[in-house]
Amino acid sequence: MSKNQVSRRQFLSYTLTGVGGFMAAGMLMPMVRFAIDPVLKANATGDFIPTKQKIADLTNEPVRVDYTFTQVDAWYESEVTSSAWVYKDDSGNVIALSPVCKHLGCTVDWNTDKANQNHFFCPCHYGLYTKDGSNVPGTPPLAPLDVFPFIEKDGFLYLGKAKPRKEA
Ligand code: FES
Repeated sequence: MSKNQVSRRQFLSYTLTGVGGFMAAGMLMPMVRFAIDPVLKANATGDFIPTKQKIADLTNEPVRVDYTFTQVDAWYESEVTSSAWVYKDDSGNVIALSPVCKHLGCTVDWNTDKANQNHFFCPCHYGLYTKDGSNVPGTPPLAPLDVFPFIEKDGFLYLGKAKPRKEA
């Protein structure tokens, strides 16, 4: 008999420790995973969201482009529909503006104020913006409309997250 022989008591102790540890890990892993799940998920804020707007169909007249995305709030996911005002400027560049008024957050419309044609108009407190989204001095908004970064994919417009203009 070797001096290193494992006793029956030691063998039982090792086996029970190993099995117990394996079972404990099996029970704890799902709990840990559930607790930190939102942290592990990729953040979608940097992604571009597809729209049904073809770039080729855009003209110099702003059109409202609706898009839907999944909003994640911790463990709660919801479908959110939002919109952008999109057109091509005189050089053919695509301009995508946020419809959220920079005064108190109402939704601005294009060309609905008869006294100020070809302007974005906020009906809440008569806010006005020029076509490029600049706020008209003397009206409540104190900053230009936010601008969406965008990409073109397969001819369609994909929108990023609207950002304030640098000069704002
Ligand atoms: S919220 Fe648009 S002008 Fe006040």
